[in-house]
This record gives sequence, C-alpha cells and structure tokens, in this order.
Amino acid sequence: MTILITGGLGFIASHAAASLLESNQELVLLDNLCNSQESVHQKLEKLTDRKFPFYRGDVRDKKLLRKIFSDHSITAVMHFAGLKSVAESVKDPLLYFDNNVGGTITLLEVMQELGVYQFIFSSSATVYGVPEYLPYDESHPTKPINPYGQSKLQVEAILKDLAASDSRWAIACLRYFNPVGAHPSHLIGELPNDQPNNLMPFMMQVAAKQRPFLTVFGNDYETADGTGERDYIHVMDLAEGHEKALALIQKTPGMHIINLGTGKPHSVLELVRTFEKVTGESIPMQIGKRRDGDLPVYYASADKAKDVLQWQATRTLADMCLSSWQFQLQHLSS
Ligand SMILES: NC(=O)c1ccc[n+]([C@@H]2O[C@H](COP(=O)([O-])OP(=O)(O)OC[C@H]3O[C@@H](n4cnc5c(N)ncnc54)[C@H](O)[C@@H]3O)[C@@H](O)[C@H]2O)c1
Repeated sequence: MTILITGGLGFIASHAAASLLESNQELVLLDNLCNSQESVHQKLEKLTDRKFPFYRGDVRDKKLLRKIFSDHSITAVMHFAGLKSVAESVKDPLLYFDNNVGGTITLLEVMQELGVYQFIFSSSATVYGVPEYLPYDESHPTKPINPYGQSKLQVEAILKDLAASDSRWAIACLRYFNPVGAHPSHLIGELPNDQPNNLMPFMMQVAAKQRPFLTVFGNDYETADGTGERDYIHVMDLAEGHEKALALIQKTPGMHIINLGTGKPHSVLELVRTFEKVTGESIPMQIGKRRDGDLPVYYASADKAKDVLQWQATRTLADMCLSSWQFQLQHLSS
C-alpha cells in the first residue's frame, strides 16, 4: 500500500508527507519543482528517519505517471500539484487551466487505466467566491471570482462526474482555507521560489530584513480593525486532516467535499501583532490600497470536518506565527 503524493515537495504536501511517514505509510513523491526545492526530499527523510522515492517530473507527463505506477503498488493518490497564485491566474488563465485542470485529468486517466480509485484533491475556499453568508459551509453556492478558483471548481465538477460514473471511486475534495506555519522540526516550511503571494511568507521576509516593510492591502474594510480577515490554519492541522480524509475514503467510497479550516477569522493586523508578540521581532507596515478581487472577510464552517472526519484544528495563531519564524531562522542559518 503506497500513496503517491503529487506536488510532494511543496508547502502543504511536504507537511502531509511528514505526517504520513510518521504514521508509517509508504510514500512516493512527484514534483516538477516549479515552486519547491529538491532539498525538501532530504529534509523529509532526515526529520522522519525514513527513505522514500522522489520523482522529478510533471503530473501532465502520462509516460512518467505510468512508470511511477508500475514501479510501485500505489493504492491512493493525494494530488497537491498545482499553481496557486490568484494574480498570475488572472494574467495567464490558460497556464492555470492547463496545469490545474489538465494535470488532474491526465492523472485521473492513468489512475482509471490502472485501477487505482482513491483520490484526495487539494481544493480551495476560493471556489465559494463572494460570501452570500458566513461561515461558508460546504453547501454555500460556488461562484469563484478568478481563474484559479475556477480551475479548482472545474476539477471538483470532474471528480463529481467521475464518482457518479463508477462506484469504485473514493474521492475527497478538501477545501483549504489559509494554511500557514511549519513542521515542529523547523526543517520544512513555506518557501516559495518567487516573490511570495501570501501574507505569512511575505511577513517572514520582512522580519528577516529581506524586505523593508509589509504592505497591508486596505484598512478600510468593514471589519473590526479595517483589515481583511481570513481563516488561518496551521499546516500541521491541515496535514492531519489528510490522514483522516484517507481513512474516510478507505471506508466510504463516493465523493466527499469537506472544508479544512478552523472556523475562526483573524485580521491581518491580528496576525502581525501576534507574530510580533511571540517572536519579539517588529514588522514595519505600510497601508496600501485594497487589491482587486480581495474579499473583506471569509472563514470556514468546520462542522462537517468534525462530524465526518472526526477532525478539528487544535493549534493557535501563536503556534502558527512561532513555527513559521523558527523555520525561517533555521532556513536562514542553513
Ligand atoms: N497555500 C494555500 O493557501 C492553498 C489554499 C488552498 C488550496 N491550495 C492548494 O493546495 C495545493 C498545494 O499548495 P501549496 O501551498 O503547498 O503550494 P506549493 O506551490 O508550495 O506546492 C505545490 C507543488 O506542486 C508542484 N507542481 C506544480 N505544478 C506541478 C505539475 N504540473 N507537476 C508536478 N508538480 C507540480 C510545485 O513545484 C510545488 O512543489 C495546490 O494545489 C494549491 O492550489 C493551497
């Protein structure tokens, strides 16, 4: 029983891999390194004291996928590989549909051809679009407002049809909210190859004096302190949610759509202040204009995850800030 993890050296997948390896699962990782580094493979082996194969390549490469499936007896796939910048998806939608939707179709075709039916997909809260009510629960209408969110919703639609076509498919679409934080070893964490798009890795670079200040995009939203509010979730909580999702699909085939969030929103300023308090570092800030397409506030209903997965996030905002910084310090000194 081996699990294939696509995008395996990326931020979330590497933490899921660490959790799964620590639970004695057999893994194979695939990544084209467009947003990660090969050194994460050695770090994962070091922190778990386990050896496992890594393939450098693209999820759209059918020949390579067939080779991976023939080299290993894969029974389940966790599909994290994807591009995730909303801004880039607006500029280059074809790139996003090709990678995120095309890549998933290629992977599913090979799985179907070889009779592997357990599939966990990294979906996103962006599938919901402008909130009609909050918290978003899984039956909230899905009207994504950018090509990235649309690419995730298209995959979900494909997965629904696939599950309906053959009862052997066992699929979990996990709609992540805002993952941050790092593994307790501080060996792995979020390390984007280019300029970060998300608040936490950007703030880490400001704290490390690699950037002069953090731009806060808008402080005139109708929120308690005027800045945007998001449902930040510790990446280790998210990783553990994947283990629960695997147990669910192994027991109950069909299609499952589940939010992975904490159910609690926190503002940009709250995140910055918490970071400053737990690390003692200061974050110079500038207030910028609102960004097109940013929502004032959104957060998850975490009820379904609690009922269906018997899972809920346990780590605090302080844990998220401290582990991110400890990873950053470890990375800077290595
Ligand atoms: N981080 C978030 O805020 C967030 C929120 C919701 C959903 N997601 C989704 O979760 C997944 C993982 O996100 P992440 O934050 O870890 O991003 P990440 O960029 O750190 O990880 C994605 C990994 O996939 C690899 N990859 C991309 N396209 C590939 C391809 N065609 N073939 C092989 N490898 C490929 C990248 O090199 C990278 O290592 C993505 O699908 C993303 O859309 C992320």
